[in-house]
Amino acid sequence: MAEALNGMKRTHYCGQILPETLGETVVVAGWAQKTRDLGNLIFIDLRDRSGIVQLAFDDATEKTIMEKAAGVRAEFVLMAKGTVRKRESVNKEIPTGEQEIFVEELKILSESQTPPFEITDKTNVKEELRLRYRYLDLRRPSMQRYLNMRHKIAKVTRDYFDSQGFMEIETPMLIKSTPEGARDYLVPSRIHEGKFYALPQSPQTYKQLLMLSGCDRYMQIVKCFRDEDLRADRQPEFTQVDLEMSFVEQDDVMAMNEGYIKYLFKEVLGMELQTPLRRLPYAEAMDRFGSDKPDTRFGLELMNISECVKDTEFKVFAGAIGGGGSVRAINVKGAADKLTRKEIDKLTEFVKTYGAKGLAYTRVTAEAHTSSFEKFLSEDEVKAIHALTGLETGDVLLIVADKNDTVYASLGALRKHLAEKLELFDKSTFDLLWVTDFPLFEYSEEEDRYVSKHHPFTHPYIEDIDKMESDPASVRSIAYDLVINGYEAGGGSIRIHDQELQKKMFKALGFTEEEAMEKFGFLMGAFQYGAPPHGGLAFGLDRLCMILSGTENIKDVIAFPKVQNASELMTQCPAEVEPKALQELHIKIDAADKE
Ligand code: AMO
Ligand code: AMP
Repeated sequence: MAEALNGMKRTHYCGQILPETLGETVVVAGWAQKTRDLGNLIFIDLRDRSGIVQLAFDDATEKTIMEKAAGVRAEFVLMAKGTVRKRESVNKEIPTGEQEIFVEELKILSESQTPPFEITDKTNVKEELRLRYRYLDLRRPSMQRYLNMRHKIAKVTRDYFDSQGFMEIETPMLIKSTPEGARDYLVPSRIHEGKFYALPQSPQTYKQLLMLSGCDRYMQIVKCFRDEDLRADRQPEFTQVDLEMSFVEQDDVMAMNEGYIKYLFKEVLGMELQTPLRRLPYAEAMDRFGSDKPDTRFGLELMNISECVKDTEFKVFAGAIGGGGSVRAINVKGAADKLTRKEIDKLTEFVKTYGAKGLAYTRVTAEAHTSSFEKFLSEDEVKAIHALTGLETGDVLLIVADKNDTVYASLGALRKHLAEKLELFDKSTFDLLWVTDFPLFEYSEEEDRYVSKHHPFTHPYIEDIDKMESDPASVRSIAYDLVINGYEAGGGSIRIHDQELQKKMFKALGFTEEEAMEKFGFLMGAFQYGAPPHGGLAFGLDRLCMILSGTENIKDVIAFPKVQNASELMTQCPAEVEPKALQELHIKIDAADKE
């Protein structure tokens, strides 16, 4: 039978039973981590969110209490009153390890079944099981640390932006679609038959409208929803630190956010960041690292060797160049011993998952010079490649020839993969930089038209506006991403605040004037009533938490995350609903579509 608190009050968290409490009478509460019953001696490790303390029962303990203690099992919820005394066998692994509480009163507040896994960080339980029993998983000290860290980050965030005069303003969750490039989560309307709300992919249009409202500096820690393929750093439902400022240019927004990041690192990690942060134009990031979010803690830069083989007869290279693509290489210096033929075969399979058709290589050891492609080239071409890439004994040259997107995607990923595999960098360091000058548009093969690289409210470079229709691919935008350790931690832009330019933008994106009015008439209309120049940015809060706490799994920093297929394992959602609810929403489910 569970006992009631009956007025008993906690005086300390378990982790607070430190030497200064010696001799005090204390009351602690928590979960039984472990019990050791030696007959006349019983020890129970009691855990709460602050740590663990040992409860002790011995010859001097009253018989009824001793019997109760003997019945305690893992994860029983206890409250204990007792005197803090020195422990006989000190446990150096925990901060409270020199003390124990000699228990004089014990309450079993709740019993527990044997949990499906032990509550400890030293575990290799499958993530799926952990997520099914997330409430138990969250009892683990590491998960408590993540939750704490996230709380601290959110608090520091609010403190900083408050100190800079930002107002936190909530924006609606049931909205008309905001385009951020993903699919919307839709919510059917009961009242308006056949009509839907969208959940916000971001508060983009609202925060722009708040600038029109004269709010000047807005921020919000806000949930966003995107129905897209999940990855280790992506969730369908995630949180942004979203902000917008009026009467600013790109440098103002960047400086404000550098201030934020600097403050965040100082308050949360005690680290001094050097600002201003480096800036890398998009084109250079792609050219050197094959990525618009490069991890620059290591080298392995891409080298364009197209010029060396521009007249080659080797079909693989000639075909790529002829088709408007390129041939690029990474020289993995001094790795010939580690990258054997077999390893190179594995790397070939790796780049194929990024669409590359193959991976050409030259491997030079003291004994042999082997290559998959040099036999197809002229001597001069081979020499030119060696000279350009600085190939020396001990090196391995890895080459992909294809259209540029594929070369970048595959070599960009290979670069990261090799750096991890060859342990080329210190994982505990932080690498921060801005990527700037993004293209305004990117071509979507799927839609056979240009789409916004960022979103349709991003301001083009003034000097490129003339090319929006004639040469869209070359138009740069006033957009910037903050990259930390190869993750896109945040991104933003200066916005269009001129009605005519916004119309031009929609036209370039292939919307008719009617379509643009239908979708974004409210914004265009607002621009007629005095729009201040404005710009902003949004950080992925989950990603910031993940990066600052040193995990590579975004789920670790979210109390109740979703898994790969966008379901939540603990509550088992999404789930079917009552036919009546569907009826009210005017929805019919096609039986053939059911899982
Ligand atoms: P963007 O789409 O770049 O910009 O999003 C901003 C930041 O949010 C994070 N993020 C995600 N984190 C986890 N899971 C996801 N599915 C996910 N998608 C995005 C990233 C990203 O950098 N309205 C604009 C911002 C602006 O222009 O001010 C926007 O949403 O860290
Ligand atoms: P093949 O003529 O197909 O035997 O190719 C010769 C070498 O070029 C092999 O090592 C292939 O892996 C490599 N290769 C094939 N296609 C590509 C490509 N698109 N880019 C780089 N290397 C390739």
